[in-house]
Amino acid sequence: MEDISAKNPRHIAIVMDGNGRWAKDKKKPRVWGHKAGVTAARKVIRAAAEANIEVLSLFGFSSENWRRPKKEVDHIFSLFFDALSNEVEELHHNNIQVRIIGSRSRFDLPLIEKIEATENLTRKNTGLVLAIAIDYGGQWDICEGIKSLVEDIHSGKLAADDIKPTLFSHYLSLGDLPDPDLFIRPSGEQRISNFFIWQLAYAELYFPNVYWPDFNEKEFAKALDFFTSRQRRFGFTGEQISKSGEGYA
Ligand code: FPP
Repeated sequence: MEDISAKNPRHIAIVMDGNGRWAKDKKKPRVWGHKAGVTAARKVIRAAAEANIEVLSLFGFSSENWRRPKKEVDHIFSLFFDALSNEVEELHHNNIQVRIIGSRSRFDLPLIEKIEATENLTRKNTGLVLAIAIDYGGQWDICEGIKSLVEDIHSGKLAADDIKPTLFSHYLSLGDLPDPDLFIRPSGEQRISNFFIWQLAYAELYFPNVYWPDFNEKEFAKALDFFTSRQRRFGFTGEQISKSGEGYA
């Protein structure tokens, strides 16, 4: 049997939610909360690297977030640009590989160039893979995957009969990496909100009751404790797993 003991997750996916409410509680503008959100992201990236997590995916901006007031959207994008500019050297120095996932069709040229430079610089790094989802949606991802798959069928590279979940996974964003095994959404909301809808099939779901700007190293450690306390069954019975003698927690 595959080793499914509850050790640390290999891939953690986080919806960074609650920046606006955090700011409102403090009687500050929403953008204040987003700025604090960048600081929280920095703490969590460091904690994930120290815990030897293989992949950390952060949901920064969804396909639906374009519906927000233009001023807020512009501010969020300028924060992304500045964060990439300011953090890239340190991320690289720490052997972190950065990937930006999502549609780039609405990005301006300086941002596209910044993303490409960051990805190229860090491409060969062998430590934590940091995936930041910007203008990403799980349904968009699946549609893009289907488009590539259909092209491969048309070109004769693939037969329709070859399509299986494991094969299709490779057509999705981060398809070369393990799927998230821990999903975290702070702020009290309990929704996936069109993040990795295919990739989260077997993830443990964790909803801590803090806003994202307050999610720090301590909260990260609590999330790991939550994960290691779960019995992950992958379709087996609890008895099968207990009897396997591996001490699945
Ligand atoms: C979610 O809180 C935050 C966003 C949609 C904005 C983007 C995230 C950041 C700026 C954090 C930094 C990330 C990186 C990786 C640089 P919300 O606005 O939905 O909060 P609310 O639900 O309380 O209104």
